[in-house]
Amino acid sequence: MPNNFEDIFKFKPEYKIRKMEIRDLDQVDQIESDAYGEVHWTRNNFLSEISNQVGKYSVLVKDETEVLGYLGSWVVVDEMHVTTVATAKKHLRKGVAETLLCSSIFGGMQGRVKCLTLEVRISNIKAQKLYEKYNFKSQGIRKRYYEDNHEAALILWTEDINTEEYQKLFIKNVIALTERCEFFEGLKMLRTH
Ligand SMILES: CC(C)(COP(=O)(O)OP(=O)(O)OC[C@H]1O[C@@H](n2cnc3c(N)ncnc32)[C@H](O)[C@@H]1OP(=O)(O)O)[C@@H](O)C(=O)NCCC(=O)NCCS
Repeated sequence: MPNNFEDIFKFKPEYKIRKMEIRDLDQVDQIESDAYGEVHWTRNNFLSEISNQVGKYSVLVKDETEVLGYLGSWVVVDEMHVTTVATAKKHLRKGVAETLLCSSIFGGMQGRVKCLTLEVRISNIKAQKLYEKYNFKSQGIRKRYYEDNHEAALILWTEDINTEEYQKLFIKNVIALTERCEFFEGLKMLRTH
């Protein structure tokens, strides 16, 4: 586990990542339909996911209540399956999804997670670029996976996230993320020491 993560990944007081709660679901529902179009999870899907024991659903919030984005995952034995990630329209390209992903990867490193996996549409290059940064690699294709247009899904996997090599890449990315994102103050604090 990277021992300097908590020094770097420090949010400004108005931002935080916390568990998704029922009070977030109206915003989550709006973000979800903007992000995924016609075929997307319903409010009820999220309601059952947040009460599911194996599910871990997080939101990045400003001032406690404004949801900037969310990420959901299931941890089964030593694998973390990322089930959904989306960013509110007006906060795209500010590092919201990457911050949520980093936080999940770090949570996995602290627990017993070895690898992360997820499915992504073949056409979803934006998301694939995000996953590439964290060394997700395609290990197969699920043909006709998506109901709406029968598009195929790439099945992506990371390598073992607990290796020194992976953790070096992770910390390098986290430092770059905290430098470019408005919600962190980590590096500034480190530099004053
Ligand atoms: C994919 C998505 C979650 C990215 O969210 P975001 O908060 O805007 O992404 P971030 O700002 O954290 O970007 C992190 C990295 O993702 C990639 N990325 C994000 N948006 C991108 C874009 N428009 N074009 C190219 N790369 C992009 C880049 O690698 C970026 O790193 P960089 O800024 O150093 O280049 C967002 O576009 C979204 O909600 N899409 C709809 C839902 C979806 O497709 N979810 C994924 C399902 S598998």
